[in-house]
Amino acid sequence: MQKWIMSGLFFAACAFAIVLMFALPGKEEVAEEQKPAMPAVQLDAAAAEEVVKATCISCHGDQLQGGMGPSLQQAGAEHDAEAIYSIVTKGRGQMPSFKEQLAPEEIANVAMWLAEKK
Ligand code: HEC
Repeated sequence: MQKWIMSGLFFAACAFAIVLMFALPGKEEVAEEQKPAMPAVQLDAAAAEEVVKATCISCHGDQLQGGMGPSLQQAGAEHDAEAIYSIVTKGRGQMPSFKEQLAPEEIANVAMWLAEKK
């Protein structure tokens, strides 16, 4: 009887693992599709610096050298403006989302400013 239960559990775990294998990449695709669209703005470096000073340096360091969050001194080498826009809008890992705090245009401006840092 117990053996029967164990093999039943094993089978269920395998089935679950197989379902996960197919389900997980699917979820990533959905996340890609829901990437927020970045509004087109004219880069205003002074405004970007102001937003970053007020909002980002507590975690990323006053010279963007990194702190609780990674260094952003070369953010543009890794991410383009749209990718940074998406990270700041939606948050990622330990980084909070800023869509309640900043206007999309402000985030886009900061993203373009950071994307030039390579
Ligand atoms: C509460 C702390 C915190 C604040 C405030 C914060 N960040 Fe972050 N940020 C993080 C952490 C932690 C990560 C790493 C996220 C991860 O592990 O995926 C990160 C990652 C990033 C990345 C990706 C870096 C990389 O190398 O992949 C960018 C770009 C970024 N932040 C930009 C910003 C901007 C712009 C602001 C201000 C609007 C900001 N962050 C404010 C904590 C923060």
